[in-house]
Amino acid sequence: MSSNAFITRQIPEEGITLLKKFCQTVEMNPYDRPLTYYELLKQVKGRDAILTMLSDKIDAHLIHEAKGLKVIANYAVGYDNIDINAATEKGIVVTNTPGVLTDSTADMAWALLFSVARRIIEGDKLTRAGKFTGWAPMFLLGGDIIGRTLGIIGAGRIGTAMAMRSRGWNMKILYTTQGNRNVLLEEKFGAKRVELETLLRESDFISIHTPFSEKTKHLMSAKEFSLMKRTAYLINTARGAVIDEVALVSALRNRQIAGAGLDVYEDEPKLKPGLAELDNVVLAPHLGSATIETRTRMSIMAAESIITVLSKRKPENCVNPVVFTSWV
Ligand code: DGY
Repeated sequence: MSSNAFITRQIPEEGITLLKKFCQTVEMNPYDRPLTYYELLKQVKGRDAILTMLSDKIDAHLIHEAKGLKVIANYAVGYDNIDINAATEKGIVVTNTPGVLTDSTADMAWALLFSVARRIIEGDKLTRAGKFTGWAPMFLLGGDIIGRTLGIIGAGRIGTAMAMRSRGWNMKILYTTQGNRNVLLEEKFGAKRVELETLLRESDFISIHTPFSEKTKHLMSAKEFSLMKRTAYLINTARGAVIDEVALVSALRNRQIAGAGLDVYEDEPKLKPGLAELDNVVLAPHLGSATIETRTRMSIMAAESIITVLSKRKPENCVNPVVFTSWV
């Protein structure tokens, strides 16, 4: 059977090579930029498979237009860019890339935590600008990490990896989760599952790892910031819209919380007005999974997902397994 795949952005060669071995046609976005919605709409027509990025909006209209499409392999663990219900209705399998990016994303959350708490970016800017005039006792004082309380919002794979890394700093761990209790965290790391309000009141560092959905939209807003300690820091490597970014700007500006480290934004890649002017926030351009090794593993996983589905098998990382009930 001849099959036809489209990749919406250049990815590491390993995944492309795998796909080329299986599919008769593999085409890719030739530009060094995301495709516009209309370019994407044109490209999905007549494809058996598309390998998509988290920045591609795969909505019901596009899914409807993609006649013959069998699989959407999203090059990310999050898949809030895809209308899963529309895909499921059309019998299209959707896959993601869980597991392979857990460690790099947890590392990124820690990098942000350290950067903001120890004011590394502020110090770097100042040093480069020739404003470092010598050691001073009250210069760029940050916050301690050792022995503090770490609050994990969303203790799935990445949240768990984030919490496990806190062992080196002897931290107390609190967590919230939409799922079952995290036995590993509780039994091996002494973590305590609490209500969000308790986590907000008691944590010195809060790290967000929950997927985005209508339920988690603006989970952190003005009320939540008002419950946090004035000395606490907020880290987000999940999805921007879990935070009400306008409310965050105001909380940071008024020193209602000590600082934030962000890798993701509500209107990505745009920032809400005022955010970039604040000195108590570290801003990264969505680099959670951005290591050579992780992106290579993601490319292989996404390609293998496409090959598995086109071979009429069910991939383990399918996010809408209900489509397979109509296959038998
Ligand atoms: C994902 O895969 O969802 C992450 O946001 C990538 O950094």
